[in-house]
Amino acid sequence: MASTWDELIQQIKERLDIVEVISEQVVLKKRGNNYWGLCPFHKDKNPSFCVTPHLGIYKCFSCGEAGDALKFIMKTRNIEFKDLIIELADRFGLEVPHSHSQNSSSTKEVKEQMLAASMVAAEYYHDLLLRQKDTNSEIALKYLTQRGIGSDIIKKFHLGIAPKAYTTLYDELRKDFSNDVLEKAGLVLKSEKGGYIDRFRNRIIIPIQNENGDYVAFGARALEKDQTPKYLNSSDSLIYNKSKLLYGLYTAKESIRKEDSVILMEGYFDVISSQAHGIENCVAACGTSLTADHVKLLSRYTKSRKIYLSFDTDSAGQKATSRGAEIIKEVFKGLGDIKQFDESYLSSDKDKYACEIRVIAPPEGKDPDEFVRSAGADAYKMYMESAPLFIDFQLKSILKNKDNYKTPQEKAVFIKQIIPILAEIGNKIIRSGYIDIVAQTLNIDKSAIQAEIRTFERANLPQTERIVKNVTKKTSILQKAQKNLLSVFLVPDSHFTFTQINEMIGDIKFDDEILINVKSTIDKLICTVNNVKELIEHLYTEYIDNPQAQTVLTELISMSEVYRGLSEEDFQNVIQETIDKINRCRQIKEAEHIKNLYKGIKDDDPEALKIQIQLRDKIKKNRQKTEKI
Ligand code: UTP
Ligand code: MN
Repeated sequence: MASTWDELIQQIKERLDIVEVISEQVVLKKRGNNYWGLCPFHKDKNPSFCVTPHLGIYKCFSCGEAGDALKFIMKTRNIEFKDLIIELADRFGLEVPHSHSQNSSSTKEVKEQMLAASMVAAEYYHDLLLRQKDTNSEIALKYLTQRGIGSDIIKKFHLGIAPKAYTTLYDELRKDFSNDVLEKAGLVLKSEKGGYIDRFRNRIIIPIQNENGDYVAFGARALEKDQTPKYLNSSDSLIYNKSKLLYGLYTAKESIRKEDSVILMEGYFDVISSQAHGIENCVAACGTSLTADHVKLLSRYTKSRKIYLSFDTDSAGQKATSRGAEIIKEVFKGLGDIKQFDESYLSSDKDKYACEIRVIAPPEGKDPDEFVRSAGADAYKMYMESAPLFIDFQLKSILKNKDNYKTPQEKAVFIKQIIPILAEIGNKIIRSGYIDIVAQTLNIDKSAIQAEIRTFERANLPQTERIVKNVTKKTSILQKAQKNLLSVFLVPDSHFTFTQINEMIGDIKFDDEILINVKSTIDKLICTVNNVKELIEHLYTEYIDNPQAQTVLTELISMSEVYRGLSEEDFQNVIQETIDKINRCRQIKEAEHIKNLYKGIKDDDPEALKIQIQLRDKIKKNRQKTEKI
């Protein structure tokens, strides 16, 4: 047990994996020892956001935002430090010292109650169906059997039935849960008369699990033909955010990892049927369209980010496919090439693709649920193996309508849909290959298509952006050298002790308020810490309420990397060079100051001559000193 608050913070830090924490918000790609992604704190076009796991820090080289895992969570979730520590302590099963424990953790209690109520409700609905305890159970079982769903699948997905009556669930759960909790969990609604009624009635219940397997929400399918809506879904709540949760992920997780790919489907029953037939790496959004958060969630489970879109083949499904692909591309933009072509025959110096999008579209025009049930899992897998890349799918589905466009004018309109797709192709040889295909299919001159692409590209040039780099104040050479010198304390595996480093640095003065502060804190801490890791951890804790100092600290840590692995001699030499640089800069600065004074003196001042002579001597002396260094 943590006996002090500081110990608790340390224990939490030890348990937090910064890559895992940041991956919840940012898609990261490994390069060397670091991970890179698009910075979530400014509009980033190229990955400038770097996570260094062995130091436990992140830093954006564009906007300058930096810190450790705790700071990242605080910033992205806008949560107070103390609340975060208490929340994490709870997650890791660590005890909070009495001095800091909160007695008003009411939200946490409500959430726990909501989770418990949802679980009891899921069990209750499931039990009604399995044991045929309700008049509706029989109808529901018959319906499910028709859909190829037997008791094994019912059990695996914990399907249930909500009776027709108004208060069946409410009467069952009100004994153990408050009205407030049941309402917040979306299980009951306030009726016009002031009482409560069940939210789901006369429906097949599909309980929705979060990543940990807790039941957090429900999808409920109408039992009768004219019953609307077809699916009634839980609204977002304290325990459920549908734009960040995917149906089936809890049961698909392992398979997604193993196959290193994931299939995105549209509906609950697509996932249920597919998983039941052995296609396990599939998930679906719950009654909402795909969001960037969904894609980020998936990217944590698939290393190579191979995503199959398996939506309905009707026009709504095609739209969803395009929208889905656009969202996926947007999330991975900047992280390297998105695999758009089967170009394995081309040598490439790039490492793995940022992502790969393929489309599974069996020609029968059925959704995955119907297809798997009628044609079987093997047939589905065959379509999966030969699934075209999104770009091929997209071009093909446009080009198949070519016969509707015959006159030159019609063709011009038609080709407008294709130009942006061709313009996206970076590799010129491959682009030209596709231009050939389009030119031949439409019987148009190749150069005309090329000219159209150029016009399109010119019109879509990114507007000159304000240079974000200027957000970080331009540090002067002097300040940079001083930071460089301070960073020497933070070099991992250094040959020298803290005391030896202090001796090498000597009495160099720092002239920036934060640097002075950091230096004196380091001086204070090095008496008690055993190594650099501990020093860094204590420094972060020390500056937890001082974001500016934290930013400087992170900068120092990344600067310290250059000293890493140097021989003793080189290490000392670099320190000496840095000290020399600082001295030289100071002298130049002083000389400039004197020059300005000299210029400012009026000739008619009685003291003028005397001062001018003094100053001239000083300038001369200074120049000699500067030249010597
Ligand atoms: P579909 O209308 O394609 O239904 O909606 P489906 O999944 O094929 O359903 P069955 O096979 O007729 O039972 C696809 C998904 O869109 C959401 C659901 O998540 C559904 O699974 N949806 C659809 C709703 O949320 N509400 C609706 O009224 C309809
Ligand atoms: Mn269906």
